[in-house]
Amino acid sequence: MSKPQGITVLGATGSVGCNTLDVISRHPERYRVVALTAHRQLDKLFEQACRFRPEYLVVADEASALALQARLASSGVVAEVLHGPEALIQVATLPQVDAVMAAIVGSAGLPSALAAACAGKRILLANKESLVVAGRLFMDAVRAGGAQLLPVDSEHSAIFQSLPADYAGDPDASGIRNIILTASGGPFRSRSAQEMLNVTPEDACRHPNWSMGRKISVDSATLMNKGLEVIEARWLFNVAPSRIQVAVHPQSVIHSMVQYKDGSVLAQLGSPDMRTPIACALAWPERIEAGVESLDFFSLSDLSFEKPDLQRFPCLRLAFDALETGGDAPAVLNAANEAAVAAFLDGRLRFVDIAKVVEETMAGVSAAASDTLEALLAKDAEARRFAEGRVAAC
Ligand SMILES: NC(=O)c1ccc[n+]([C@@H]2O[C@H](COP(=O)([O-])OP(=O)(O)OC[C@H]3O[C@@H](n4cnc5c(N)ncnc54)[C@H](OP(=O)(O)O)[C@@H]3O)[C@@H](O)[C@H]2O)c1
Repeated sequence: MSKPQGITVLGATGSVGCNTLDVISRHPERYRVVALTAHRQLDKLFEQACRFRPEYLVVADEASALALQARLASSGVVAEVLHGPEALIQVATLPQVDAVMAAIVGSAGLPSALAAACAGKRILLANKESLVVAGRLFMDAVRAGGAQLLPVDSEHSAIFQSLPADYAGDPDASGIRNIILTASGGPFRSRSAQEMLNVTPEDACRHPNWSMGRKISVDSATLMNKGLEVIEARWLFNVAPSRIQVAVHPQSVIHSMVQYKDGSVLAQLGSPDMRTPIACALAWPERIEAGVESLDFFSLSDLSFEKPDLQRFPCLRLAFDALETGGDAPAVLNAANEAAVAAFLDGRLRFVDIAKVVEETMAGVSAAASDTLEALLAKDAEARRFAEGRVAAC
């Protein structure tokens, strides 16, 4: 039997991170955890360290690192505890690491995912913001570094599985007409604009089908998540925005589809459980047990589809606009959205004003293209400052 693969889980304490460790725990002969990273949830990271015994742990700052080190010492767990953004890059590029699960939320996940790409790792990409902010730079780094990029977002995993095995980024050569991203429609799918005026963070985070972190849950409620996924799909599969469609499919059974020129449509179906796309990316091209029940077709009700309503959910339109504008527009959209969603979750902004803040920021911050990570991060910071100003004015 071959040696277990070394895995770094960036964002181990989050929803995707925990699901990743659940899948890994089912296959100790295949995977060995080398590093786990967290930001603020030290108790959870400590428990994970006791269970998976990684060589490295990363936390946000020195005080957290010292506190964690003390707890580990008194429990007899041996691990090197690092802190800060540079440490995330360090554990994403260690020579003993074969695969990196990129599951930090937001553009904070970009530098470490990009470093893994440059180092030629197998990247299991949950952090869609990396491709939204730095699509061209990221894809160039994957090619130059000889990395393998495997999508973890369930929609992109579905498309990846529905494309020809030898798909090389040329939709016409592969006979592809369109790709269709499905969307659950989120918790407010059937609410009027008026009914969305006073929704709370708790309402927005109560997703009908998926259990996820708070930021992506709000993004699902505004449909910005689908917009970010459209941008992610453009880069992952090299498909023009005009060939990416969104279909609201409230049952979340079909995770996305590829429509071919001969009229065929290939889709991937499954229960709404992130362990399926995580296991798919971890083991690809093999298939492994993920702890997920098979779909029971006889208990499924109907499978229905609707067009997204861009009037009630303008964030999806803004994402298409950002793609069309090009340059740094998607990075500006993303930064404004992160600032606006954080303000909504803190009770400083109404749900319906998230789109307003994003739109005003896109109008106020230059979309001129940045071609280095540093320039992109500076643009991200500028757009956040601008968006904070708009939040204060709302
Ligand atoms: N959840 C899903 O089902 C799902 C599905 C598809 C794609 N995704 C994507 O996967 C990513 C993670 O989503 P999630 O739902 O798992 O998020 P989450 O539950 O909020 O977890 C985020 C993780 O990132 C860490 N983190 C937060 N801010 C950080 C920072 N500034 N520096 C370093 N680490 C930081 C958190 O640490 P602490 O918890 O310790 O603070 C946590 O480990 C997102 O990009 C999301 O769009 C998620």
